[in-house]
Amino acid sequence: MSQSIAVVTGAAGDIGAAIAARLAEDHDVVLLADIDAAAATAVASKLGAAERFVAVGCDVTSEASIAELAERAAGIGVVRTLVNNAGAARATSLHDTTPEIWRADNALNLEAPFLCFRAFEPMLKATKGSVVNIASVNGLHVFGHPAYSAAKAGLLHFTRLVAVEYGKFGIRSNAVAPGTVKTQAWEARASANPNVFEEARRWYPLQRVVDPKDVANSVGFLAGPLAAAITGVCLPVDCGLTAGQAELARTFSQSEHY
Ligand SMILES: NC(=O)c1ccc[n+]([C@@H]2O[C@H](COP(=O)([O-])OP(=O)(O)OC[C@H]3O[C@@H](n4cnc5c(N)ncnc54)[C@H](O)[C@@H]3O)[C@@H](O)[C@H]2O)c1
Repeated sequence: MSQSIAVVTGAAGDIGAAIAARLAEDHDVVLLADIDAAAATAVASKLGAAERFVAVGCDVTSEASIAELAERAAGIGVVRTLVNNAGAARATSLHDTTPEIWRADNALNLEAPFLCFRAFEPMLKATKGSVVNIASVNGLHVFGHPAYSAAKAGLLHFTRLVAVEYGKFGIRSNAVAPGTVKTQAWEARASANPNVFEEARRWYPLQRVVDPKDVANSVGFLAGPLAAAITGVCLPVDCGLTAGQAELARTFSQSEHY
């Protein structure tokens, strides 16, 4: 029987690495695809045996590069799970967003998941597999990073488009929308303001930010048999951020219980 594969893009990052570790629990092989091949190789060797964690250099904004990734996968087994995790945000305000930034953020955060899905569609049909798109709370509400946010909102709709059109093949498609996760993506902001996570914490009902493992566990759930009847959904993994804000509730209600 063919080996079952999970493909995780952007797997050299903290969230991608945590997802790769989690998916190794129920897949034979995890392909760690990242534009930074050296970093992906380092993560793969940290995670475990070379035959179970395979690093592949891949630029997910390039169709040719994705085709090579799909070929590599075909040489190993069949893809049962595709996690579109590679993502990044550039300008923080609309004022600072140039047309180039708008296009680049959309290419990485929205177009790339579409291109990856197309490349793995035949295998996902064969395995009745599933797609998990790593979106963001930025795709649900406005928290800055406009081009990235618009792309993540598009990614949520793309998630539903796949769910509805490909459900007849047994393919499921879901999204996870993390709140703030302490990863290397925050390095610049954390060095500009060492208190950035402390300041963010007060807006979260659980009074903490998200851990990469929290995201990985939700991906493991959505990709696994316990979520067999779940498709087309967005699961916020946001320590309650999108549920509401206690501080505002306190102001509105003038109740000390918030
Ligand atoms: N960190 C957060 O607070 C947070 C919150 C919500 C959503 N997310 C989402 O989670 C995902 C992972 O974020 P992270 O914080 O781990 O980021 P990260 O910057 O730590 O990791 C992202 C990885 O993607 C890779 N990458 C970038 N461009 C690529 C390309 N063209 N092709 C292939 N790989 C590429 C990078 O090399 C890097 O290893 C992203 O989609 C991000 O939008 C993160």
